[in-house]
Amino acid sequence: MIKTGVLGAKGRMGSQVCRTVDAAGDLELSAAVDADDALDSLAGCDVVVDFTDPGVVMENLRWCVAHGLDVIVGTSGFDDMRLAVAAEWLHRAPGTRVLIVPNFSVGAVLMMRFAQLAAPFFESAEIIELHHPAKADAPSGTAARTATLISAARAAADLGPSPDATASEMDGARGAVLDGVHVHSVRLAGLLAHQEVLLGGHGEVLTVRHDSLDRASFMPGVLMAVRGLASLPAGLTVGLEGMLGLG
Ligand SMILES: NC(=O)c1ccc[n+]([C@@H]2O[C@H](COP(=O)([O-])OP(=O)(O)OC[C@H]3O[C@@H](n4cnc5c(N)ncnc54)[C@H](O)[C@@H]3O)[C@@H](O)[C@H]2O)c1
Repeated sequence: MIKTGVLGAKGRMGSQVCRTVDAAGDLELSAAVDADDALDSLAGCDVVVDFTDPGVVMENLRWCVAHGLDVIVGTSGFDDMRLAVAAEWLHRAPGTRVLIVPNFSVGAVLMMRFAQLAAPFFESAEIIELHHPAKADAPSGTAARTATLISAARAAADLGPSPDATASEMDGARGAVLDGVHVHSVRLAGLLAHQEVLLGGHGEVLTVRHDSLDRASFMPGVLMAVRGLASLPAGLTVGLEGMLGLG
């Protein structure tokens, strides 16, 4: 049995993770921790899963790594600076693993890969991410990661910036720019988590779109991560790609 602790256990994602862990024959829900609960009950867990808030996740992660606990982080907001801080903490806790997963949905991971594969073949690339209005951060972690992947693929193909003659603009009209890629965030009642990557070339547009229609879409990825964490090398891993055999 894999002893599993959940941080953010009363939240939308955390409560579903608790139910999923409870229902899995090979996992045991050893600790369910939410805001204001002591973290001590996580001691002894084989794996801790964090679905909390970008404002508190670093403190949770610091505590877990300092206590030698392996952690899977689903909470968004992990930019390069946060990844570097996590790597530094792990350097001082040899043998401990942290897996940061910007998106647990297998379809979303494939959407990112398809966008990365297509990026060198199109002169323009922009991202539209669309989420439920209770989402605290914008742009989404998935959009940020997609922008990074597209940017690296474009750089490797010696593509310059996407063409854009905008000479004057209202603040925000062209979205946020991440690694040179424009990202537009929509927050709308009725939505859950959706993303479109628009790739434009000569007389054609390729759209790669993914829709998470229910939080259940994240659970197979969460289970895969919990079951596979012990076989990852110690230190920091980002994304489910390795576990899915996508390199
Ligand atoms: N990686 C993915 O695939 C994925 C998918 C969906 C959501 N997310 C991200 O997961 C995070 C949580 O999303 P949600 O919709 O469940 O949010 P939510 O607001 O419903 O839940 C967050 C929970 O964390 C709790 N919490 C706050 N501070 C805490 C602390 N210090 N310790 C423990 N618990 C604490 C809150 O009380 C709440 O119950 C967000 O950052 C969201 O963007 C990631």
